[in-house]
Amino acid sequence: MSVLFGVSLMFLCIFFIKGSLSKLERLEHPVTKYDGSLSFLVVGDWGRKGGFNQSLVAHQMGIVGEQLDIDFVISVGDNFYDDGLKGDTDPAFEASFSHIYTHPSLQKQWYSVLGNHDYRGNVSAQLSQVLTQKDWRWFCRRSFVLSSGMVEFFFVDTNPFVEKYFTDPEDHTYDWSNVLPRKKYISNLLHDLDLQMKKSCAKWKFVVGHHGIKTAGEHGVTQELVDQLVPILEENKVDLYINGHDHCLQHIGSDGEIQFLTSGGGSKAWRGNVQSWDPKELKLYYDGQGFMSLHVTHSQAKFIYYDVSGNVLHQSTLSKSFKRNHPF
Ligand SMILES: *[C@@H]1O[C@H](CO)[C@@H](O)[C@H](O)[C@H]1NC(C)=O
Ligand SMILES: *[C@@H]1O[C@H](CO)[C@@H](O)[C@H](O)[C@H]1NC(C)=O
Repeated sequence: MSVLFGVSLMFLCIFFIKGSLSKLERLEHPVTKYDGSLSFLVVGDWGRKGGFNQSLVAHQMGIVGEQLDIDFVISVGDNFYDDGLKGDTDPAFEASFSHIYTHPSLQKQWYSVLGNHDYRGNVSAQLSQVLTQKDWRWFCRRSFVLSSGMVEFFFVDTNPFVEKYFTDPEDHTYDWSNVLPRKKYISNLLHDLDLQMKKSCAKWKFVVGHHGIKTAGEHGVTQELVDQLVPILEENKVDLYINGHDHCLQHIGSDGEIQFLTSGGGSKAWRGNVQSWDPKELKLYYDGQGFMSLHVTHSQAKFIYYDVSGNVLHQSTLSKSFKRNHPF
């Protein structure tokens, strides 16, 4: 009886996903581990041709990637400094990506979103198939859904939400081609995300974007995301939101609520820039370089933060059955 019920539920799920009207690209990353678990690294704000310790962080990512036998790597944006890529033949692609993340364990698929610095260059170049032909690991989109066994990832282009890039761009120019009109772009995106999250049958729902929602870093809270994206995340009970933008490693969260993880330490880090935050929520703030790993099973999601030398700075585990956060 319960088996029948489970099977029909599964068909219902497949039917809903197939039948959805969302325009968000969906892809699947095959599960290879016998227990269905998933391991991956998250790095952000990195592309500086190896400078500012990018190479050291890359080296440690390689070591941890090997230990955890990672399935893939997630980049939370600001992939190429200072102004993204000029075109799909820009040598910065090799200098900041292919020639830096050389460790055998990092020869996995990379899933990337764009940061504000990427939007200062040629966006279509970063999205181009030409880069993937040069280095098969590269996969970058504005927004997409990645499904891998019991986890569904919702990658969100957070850049167009940020009002000041439009009203007060300072000395920067942003490549808003295919984004304007902005309001329509945002409302379509929010609608599609909500739809995909509602139809999701995954046990875990993780959301990835460049800009911070809860952060004590230099840039601070992105109010536009608090107002427009957070209600959708809460309604659909996502487990984690992962971002970069602030050049730090950070964990903010309360028991039973969405955990906010920042991994923006891929190269240049801003030491000494921290704003005050409720100490009950702020589990880690580290203003140096580093990255993080996640290991997800049916019952737990464990995340670990590492510094530039590979030392563990902080770790925490979300437990599914109790919906609680156990730091240890
Ligand atoms: C690189 O990391 C080392 C620690 O291994 C640190 O002493 C140094 O200041 C860092 N350099 C930069 C440019 O951040
Ligand atoms: C952006 O890059 C693409 C190649 O991906 C190229 O065709 C296009 O001309 C570039 N645009 C500008 C404005 O340089």
